[in-house]
Amino acid sequence: MTSATLKTPLTELVGVRHPIVQTGMGWVAGPRLVSATANAGALGVLASATMSPEQLRSAVREVKSRTEAPFGVNLRADASDAAERVRIIVDEGVRVASFALAPSRELIARLKDAGVVVIPSIGARRHAEKVAAWGADAVVVQGGEGGGHTGEVATTVLLPQVVDAVDIPVVAAGGFFDGRGLVAALAYGAAGVAMGTRFLLTSDSTVPDAVKAKYLAAQVKDVTVTRAVDGLPHRMLRTDFVSSLESAGRARVLARAIRHASGFRRVSGMSWREMLRDGLAMRHGKELSWSQVLLAANTPMLLRSSMVDGRTDLGVMASGQVAGVIDDLPSCAELVEQVMAQALEVAGRLPRP
Ligand SMILES: Cc1cc2nc3c(=O)[nH]c(=O)nc-3n(C[C@H](O)[C@H](O)[C@H](O)COP(=O)(O)O)c2cc1C
Repeated sequence: MTSATLKTPLTELVGVRHPIVQTGMGWVAGPRLVSATANAGALGVLASATMSPEQLRSAVREVKSRTEAPFGVNLRADASDAAERVRIIVDEGVRVASFALAPSRELIARLKDAGVVVIPSIGARRHAEKVAAWGADAVVVQGGEGGGHTGEVATTVLLPQVVDAVDIPVVAAGGFFDGRGLVAALAYGAAGVAMGTRFLLTSDSTVPDAVKAKYLAAQVKDVTVTRAVDGLPHRMLRTDFVSSLESAGRARVLARAIRHASGFRRVSGMSWREMLRDGLAMRHGKELSWSQVLLAANTPMLLRSSMVDGRTDLGVMASGQVAGVIDDLPSCAELVEQVMAQALEVAGRLPRP
């Protein structure tokens, strides 16, 4: 583990050595990646939306058996079983709860009462203001460069906006992969960086080698945003399969969505009733049609085909634009070491007034 470090409000808040977060990526951020990140001195976050509650409990225990360092769990605030997942987080003494969507005031209070640090991920200033007012301890703000579901506003514009709007620590996400980015984020007033794609591309990530090779070969222009998977803007590698999703007729798209919904039901252990309730929660307040709600099950299933089964011809590869500039597969320990060493070196040679 590198000895060089930078103390920030994030490292103080969660008790990690370095102001670096490995984000909760579905099918990617499992016990092996999270514990390797934690042992490297950064904050690893387990992705739980693609696990059943029982799988989540055993994944948490597996991380605990591999590391003594703090780590987090990412969950969907609108999941019908969110309360059960929160109970597992509290019971197991998990340090951080991270949320893909803004959690309710009640959920935040419950976690905080139990001593869990609450860090929602947001993509707009008003969402940051809302969760800060509800008691969130920090926020991760993701700009449009980032992988997976993403917004339109670039990190360089969104981050200073959010830093100015809230008094809690802000962690910058979307487009970060090295020490220069960490220094830039700190200069904007952030308390650290969160990286998804960079941690997917490590030797500790369980993503099949052939899939990692596709990311490594990608240029920046090969990373695209499409709504073809679930109706929401989603950043991923452009492949023939993604193009075929975009050109498929409505009937074919719906037929596949129904197949995937039933596949997701099987692997997630959810009942149709729970899936319907989650679908309704997703639809709430958004202009989503029922077919888009059904398509929501496409995301985890299409991601699984690539990230678990290695079928890039049948699955999608969520990715940030940084895939176009990454060309190696360090271990998490090497990655964190390199980022910290470069950050300190870069910070040391900035022009002085
Ligand atoms: C393969 C992949 C899967 C992802 N899955 C999720 C997810 O399940 N939940 C979530 O909140 N964010 C998810 N994301 C978004 C990341 O957590 C993170 O916010 C994003 O990757 C940051 O941008 P970067 O890739 O430029 O570092 C995913 C991203 C990738 C690349």
